[in-house]
Amino acid sequence: MGMQKKQILKTKKAIARKRSQGTQTFQAPKGMHDIYEPDIALFDDLQDVVRDLARAYGYQHIEIPVLEDKDLFVRSVGLDTDMVEKEMYVLKTRGRDILALRPEGTAGVARAYIQNGFMYMPQPVKLWYWGPMFRYENPQAGRYRQHIQAGFEFLGADNPIADAETMQLAVRIGESFGLKNVCVYLNSIGCSACRVSYRKALKAYYRTKSRKLCSDCKRRLHTNALRLLDCKNETCMMFRKDAPETLGYLCKDCSAHFKKVLEFLDEMKINYFLDPYLVRGLDYYNQTVFELKAIPSQQQPVDGHEQQKEPLSFGGGGRYDYLMKMLGGPDTTAVGFALGIDRMVEIAKQEQVKAKKQNPRVYVIQMGDIARTKALQMLDMLRAQGIFAGFDLCRDSIKAQFRSADRLGVRYALIIGQKEVVDHEVLIRDMETGIQESIPEEKMIEALKERLRLARKDKINHTFYGVPS
Ligand code: HAM
Repeated sequence: MGMQKKQILKTKKAIARKRSQGTQTFQAPKGMHDIYEPDIALFDDLQDVVRDLARAYGYQHIEIPVLEDKDLFVRSVGLDTDMVEKEMYVLKTRGRDILALRPEGTAGVARAYIQNGFMYMPQPVKLWYWGPMFRYENPQAGRYRQHIQAGFEFLGADNPIADAETMQLAVRIGESFGLKNVCVYLNSIGCSACRVSYRKALKAYYRTKSRKLCSDCKRRLHTNALRLLDCKNETCMMFRKDAPETLGYLCKDCSAHFKKVLEFLDEMKINYFLDPYLVRGLDYYNQTVFELKAIPSQQQPVDGHEQQKEPLSFGGGGRYDYLMKMLGGPDTTAVGFALGIDRMVEIAKQEQVKAKKQNPRVYVIQMGDIARTKALQMLDMLRAQGIFAGFDLCRDSIKAQFRSADRLGVRYALIIGQKEVVDHEVLIRDMETGIQESIPEEKMIEALKERLRLARKDKINHTFYGVPS
């Protein structure tokens, strides 16, 4: 049994004992969880990938509030969507404002764009964010009530190359993090003009099934027909496979836009599949919509109908050219996506992706109170020189400190006892050979750097000649 599993089991027993003694204990709210080692290392790695690639693609970082006016989401995401209808955490403040914990980030970024006058800056504006989102969903694998998203919004760009660039960025983040077989599923849902004839055809089709539809879909048939296509009810999902396809109802401009997007994706060799029923669960989209999946190698994707058998999407997005105007801002075309960070980490764990852990290269071992004070100063000097050192100043046992150094796999230990403090010296011990040398205190950094440099060279040579290091 792994250390973490043992730790959880022990804790569960301790909590049960406390409860039986009448002590009140607390749990994280349902569908929300703590993230810590070893998983947090993968979250950190992914955050590094997101930050680096965001910079490389010209995005600026933006932080937006976790709480927004509830109506911002009603207006943006749509009243008849699951997200607004069933999943929002809504609260009333003492000042009687009705706020919602953000279920997604695009609406907040659009609000920030208008409120902070981003439209007066050179266009397009590219903004990225990272943070928690809240949806009152039924918790299950890959679906939490609090999850982290990294979002990218490309504002003021109408060229189809922006759609393709956005999808390329999403794919590259997945791949750089270590996900395999990353695929884009995409579709075009057209503009508001195409939508009129499509909606008519969709309604005509679903009207013939209306008695068998779930109660939500019965209502949506009259209020928001497009949402019939993303209902999660099994019977409603079954009807989808014969429904009219959005691509058959695109106007000339939308068709040309989509064709260009596909050409760019082909050019960039992005792995994509057309999904004629992909409409996404949010009302603000038009034209291109897409989702990202990492397909397990034994399961190859099939265009369109087979989609529900495939893994959950780890990201999704699309074009939203009308949103800014709907929120009272200027006409601003836009395209963007968000990645489900928790889902990406889960996929990475299934695929045995290892976190890029950085271990210390040296370990400082102290013996006694005077040495402890000296060690504190030495550690400060090492950090100033960029040398990552392990230590445990609270520990008295030398054996235990050596054990920690061994566990971390450091090559050198710096040892200070009372004698070393008095003589202004330090012992450098090679943990591989066991040889140790006494070095004057002022030469410690230089001597250590030299040894670390030689150790690295030695490792490279060993690897080069095929000797395991
Ligand atoms: P979304 O598809 O609703 O899009 O969410 C983005 C991603 O967040 C999903 O693909 C999924 O990986 C993850 N996700 C969603 N809900 C959960 C959940 N309950 N638990 C764990 N992960 C979840 C949006 O939110 C849009 N704002 C994306 C966008 C940006 N469109 C344009 N710009």
